[in-house]
Amino acid sequence: MSVNPNEKKMWDGRFESGMAQSMIDLSFSLEFDAELIEEDIQGSIGHGKGLVEAGVLSDLEYKTICDGLQGILADYRAGKSLWNSGDEDIHMAVERVLTERIGDLGKKIHTGRSRNDQVCTDFKLYMRHRAAEIQELACDLQRTLLEVAKSHDGRLMPGYTHMQQAQPILFSHYLMSFFFALSRDVNRLQNFLTLHSELPLGSGAMAGSAFPYHRALVAKELGFDRPSPNSIDAVSHRDMALEFTSNLAIIANTLSRYAEDFVNWSTSEFGFLTLHDAFSSGSSMMPQKKNPDSMELIRGKAGRMLGNYTSLFTLVKGAPLSYSRDLQEDKEPVFDSVKTAKVCLRVMKEALETAHWNFDKMESRMLPALLATDLADLLVEHGIAFRDAHHIVGSLVGEAAKKNLQFTELSDALWAEKGVPDVAKIKSKLTFEYSVNKRNIEGGTGEDSLKEQFKKAEAILAK
Ligand code: ARG
Repeated sequence: MSVNPNEKKMWDGRFESGMAQSMIDLSFSLEFDAELIEEDIQGSIGHGKGLVEAGVLSDLEYKTICDGLQGILADYRAGKSLWNSGDEDIHMAVERVLTERIGDLGKKIHTGRSRNDQVCTDFKLYMRHRAAEIQELACDLQRTLLEVAKSHDGRLMPGYTHMQQAQPILFSHYLMSFFFALSRDVNRLQNFLTLHSELPLGSGAMAGSAFPYHRALVAKELGFDRPSPNSIDAVSHRDMALEFTSNLAIIANTLSRYAEDFVNWSTSEFGFLTLHDAFSSGSSMMPQKKNPDSMELIRGKAGRMLGNYTSLFTLVKGAPLSYSRDLQEDKEPVFDSVKTAKVCLRVMKEALETAHWNFDKMESRMLPALLATDLADLLVEHGIAFRDAHHIVGSLVGEAAKKNLQFTELSDALWAEKGVPDVAKIKSKLTFEYSVNKRNIEGGTGEDSLKEQFKKAEAILAK
C-alpha cells in the first residue's frame, strides 16, 4: 500500500494517515464531476447570500468571495489549469483554489453547509439547466420537421402497420407524427422542471443547518421555487435524477423509432430517403456502400440511455438513508445521458434538414391494396354492413393474390359477382388522393387535417 503522509485534506482533522493510492483511484471524482463547475460556483454564490443574511459574512466579505469564485470560473472557461492531484472533487477543488486566492476568508463559504446538500444543490441546478437546453434542442428538431413537412405538403406515401403496406398517407402526416411525439417529450421535461424545484441547501449533512440561514432567499436566488421541506429527504433522494434519465431515455426512444424507419427507408429496397453524405459512412471494404450510420447510432444510443437509467436505479434502490458514498456514482449516468441526448437531437435535426426525399419512389411503391379499406368504406356507403363489406373486399384481394394480380386489376364482372354494386363508378373513385382526403377528421391524414396540424404545431412552437 502506498500512502502520502503529507497530503492534507479538508476533512482530515481526525486522521493520522493519508489515503492509499488505490483508495484515491477509487474515490476521487474530479475527473468527471468537474462537469458541475458552473453550478457549483453558482450554488456557492447563492449560499453566500444566505450567510450574509445569517450574519456569518459581511457584505464586503461576500463580495470578495463572489469575485474570487467568478475569477475561478473565468479561468476555467479560459482553459487555465486550476486543479491538482490532491483535489478529490469539484466542490473541494473550487474551495481550495478560492482559499489560496483570497486567504482564510475562502474557508468561510462552507459554513452551515455540507458537501451533501451542496452536491444535491449543484446536481439539481445542473439537471434543471440541461433539461431546458434539451427542450430547446427538441424544439429545434420540431421546427425542422414542421418545415420539411410543409415544404412537401401533398406528397403521398404508403403508410405501414406490421411493416406491411396499410393505407395511403401524406408524407407530411408521417413527419408530423414525429413532431407531436417530441411535444410530449418536451412537456415531460416541463413537468420534471415543475416538480423538482426545491432547494436542498440548508439541509446540511442530513439534519439541517444550525445557522439562521435564510433558505427561501437562497432558493429564489438560485431559481428554485422553495426550500425542501425535509433535510433527510433533501440529501438522500435521487428520484430527480431517475426521472431525468428516464425522460431522456424516452426522448432517445422516440428518436430511435424514427431512426429505425429512416434506416429502412434508406435501403435500395425502399429507396424513400437518401441521407446527405455528411450523415452517412462508407465501408472500409465495399466501395459501393453508403450506410445510414447516423440513424443506426441514434438507434443504438437509446440502449445506452436505458442503461444509464437502469444503472442509476440499481445504485439507489438499496442505498440507506441519508447519504452514503455510493451516491457519488449518480453523476456519470446523468452526464452521459445529457451528452448523448444532445448529440442525437442535433444529428437528427441536421440529417433531416439535409436529406433528400424520393417522392417518386414512394409513390411508385404504393400498392392498390392500400385502398382496400376505402373500398370497404364505399360499400358501407352503399348500405352494406361493414363486416360484410370487409369480407367482400377480402375475397377480392385473396382472389387477386391467387392470380398474381392487384385486386383493382380483376374484371368488373368479378367485382360485381363478389357483391360490389355500381362497379365502374366505385372503381373510378378509388384513388390514393381520394383515400387521403376522406380522412380530414381531426388527427387524420387528409390535407385539411394537415393544415390544422400545422397550425397546432406553430402554436406549440410559439410558446
Ligand atoms: N463527491 C461526493 C459526491 O458527489 C461528495 C459528497 C461527499 N460527502 C460525504 N459525506 N463524504 O457524492
